[in-house]
Amino acid sequence: MKLFDVYSQYDVDLRKAKGAILTDVEGTDYLDFYGGHGVISIGHAHPRYIDAIENQLHQIAFYTNVIQNSLQVELAEKLGKLSGYTDYNLFLGNSGAEAVENALKVASFKTGKNKIIAIKGSFHGRCSGSIAITDNPVIQSPFNQVHNVSFIALNDFEALEKEFKDKDVAGIIIEGIQGVGGVYEGTPEFLKAVREICTKTGAMMIMDEIQSGYGRTGKFFAHQWADVKPDIITVAKGMGNGFPISGVLIAPNIEAKKGMLGTTFGGNHLACASAIAVLDVMKDENLMENALQMGEYLKKELKQMDFIKDIRGRGLMIGIEMENAAEFRKQLILEEMIFTGFSGPNTIRLLPPLNITMKEAKKFIKALISTTTTD
Ligand SMILES: Cc1ncc(COP(=O)(O)O)c(C=O)c1O
Repeated sequence: MKLFDVYSQYDVDLRKAKGAILTDVEGTDYLDFYGGHGVISIGHAHPRYIDAIENQLHQIAFYTNVIQNSLQVELAEKLGKLSGYTDYNLFLGNSGAEAVENALKVASFKTGKNKIIAIKGSFHGRCSGSIAITDNPVIQSPFNQVHNVSFIALNDFEALEKEFKDKDVAGIIIEGIQGVGGVYEGTPEFLKAVREICTKTGAMMIMDEIQSGYGRTGKFFAHQWADVKPDIITVAKGMGNGFPISGVLIAPNIEAKKGMLGTTFGGNHLACASAIAVLDVMKDENLMENALQMGEYLKKELKQMDFIKDIRGRGLMIGIEMENAAEFRKQLILEEMIFTGFSGPNTIRLLPPLNITMKEAKKFIKALISTTTTD
């Protein structure tokens, strides 16, 4: 059997990783400034993460959700405390798209309505509903195109008002910071207007924090910079530092009903052990603070480079807009041995582990300068 060939891949085969360093099968080291799509939060192979998973593996790895699992309760309590959402309820799943599907279902169940407003340039995943609210018709099959969705531009107050005139609106979904779409974020005024109109109409405000959440911007969630409180929040990526786990944080006024949501693997013992270790490390090693400081340093240095057209984002979610970004990124991998990501047509996206050091940040800046001078 061969692999179903859907990914464009670089010719690098990784063997191991530690902190922000990836090593390939030939022993070459790479600096990881992408975290495998922003998944690596506490760094590769963190000793407390390894211990937690290993210990759990020797006890119990999995059992069904019809049997109690106190690790889920511990995870929910710790997540509530660190994020500031102590009164919200948590539903656990396996991937980002699954979290989004469940968030949409909760919004629809709560309101009895079926229309979702999404944002132009959005990416929310590749399952049926999550891809329907993703602004990219190229990756939608005809099967995905039957949902009741409309797209408005980010920060477009007029379009917001207009779409909400429709009585079928179950909710609006917005990324904390758009990742795939180019590292753009809603202004505090826009997010406050969204909150207001949702409260007025009874629609659900959903923030997708799968990429921008989990401490990446220096606060637990990117939307907390705007001081708004959504009804539903999705998390995944950094939550398990590579172990597949996702969650939906649900406001206390949304009532759970037996059988309303469900999953076989979601919230299993191993996944919970990994996610608890992530939260413990984030708290004990002050990783949100580090993300903020490293992000500020990187931005300050980037601002001095005249070939950069724009710098966007917060903390360690940074978009660097420039000409020939795709070629530049390729050079960073092949010549400087640095992994970065891509976002929109001309933007390089940085999503390094939250515990990168000043030495690693300086190495990245030095490599950027050397890549431009050898252009
Ligand atoms: C904002 C956002 N939502 C949802 C997803 C989908 O997550 P997954 O690939 O785990 O299904 C992604 C993935 O990149 C994302 O960036």
